[in-house]
Amino acid sequence: MDKRVVIVTGAARGIGHGIAACFARKGDIVVIADLDASAAEQSAGAMTAAGAPESVGLRCDVSRRIEVEAMIEAVLACFGRIDVLVNNAGICPFVDVMQLTPEVWQRTLDVNLNGAFHCTQCVARHMIERGEGGRILFITSLAENVTGPAQVDYGASKAGLRMTMAGFATALGPHGITCNAVAPGMILTPMTAFHWEQPENAAFLKTRVPVARIGTPEDIGNACVFLASPEAAYINGITLRVDGGHQAVCY
Ligand SMILES: NC(=O)c1ccc[n+]([C@@H]2O[C@H](COP(=O)([O-])OP(=O)(O)OC[C@H]3O[C@@H](n4cnc5c(N)ncnc54)[C@H](O)[C@@H]3O)[C@@H](O)[C@H]2O)c1
Repeated sequence: MDKRVVIVTGAARGIGHGIAACFARKGDIVVIADLDASAAEQSAGAMTAAGAPESVGLRCDVSRRIEVEAMIEAVLACFGRIDVLVNNAGICPFVDVMQLTPEVWQRTLDVNLNGAFHCTQCVARHMIERGEGGRILFITSLAENVTGPAQVDYGASKAGLRMTMAGFATALGPHGITCNAVAPGMILTPMTAFHWEQPENAAFLKTRVPVARIGTPEDIGNACVFLASPEAAYINGITLRVDGGHQAVCY
């Protein structure tokens, strides 16, 4: 069988990089699509070292339809197929809602929500035409269900993303394409390092997360590899929480 081709958006660093590395270790061809072109190329180099037979880094702002279409055309020109899409690219401005400008609100929705719509619709059109099914994953967040004053834009985008995933699951299931979400808990990445590097916040993890540690990008990557595996063929339209039990705790 041909090697699977896996696109991970926002994979130049952080969770996306960890997800891509997990697919690379399984022997899949990995495409790193990121806003940061040079970091994407560097990340692609690391994927080959991790075990990907081939990998490529492409610049793509997922919020811009024209860039998404160009990225997908480039992938098809290179590898001829797309088997898995992971909608991971996301931003979290952490601005109190009463100070949030309309521009920042809009950008959060454009990247986190609209970006996943563009990528999913374009990739799904290719998958339907090819007729061999596929797997589409969405990286949401615990913030799809719980929120706070500095996460109003972020939570709105992630709650919207959950329903976007569920809607696509109903539309694409008949074509053998499953759609699922992974909701990470507290994961150490460049997005969150400023917070977790403070000792009082690090101590919070020990008391609030039952497994008593912060999550890694690979914790999320392993869940994605499972949801994209043949063993997960009948799982469609769910959110898999990967949070060390954080949201199960009642205080
Ligand atoms: N870190 C956490 O604790 C955590 C928890 C829950 C959910 N998430 C989600 O996981 C995903 C990755 O988060 P992370 O912590 O790795 O963040 P990060 O900031 O460390 O990395 C995000 C990556 O996405 C890229 N990116 C940003 N805007 C983009 C755009 N418009 N188009 C393409 N690429 C773009 C960045 O260049 C960067 O490489 C996000 O969707 C985030 O909401 C993270």
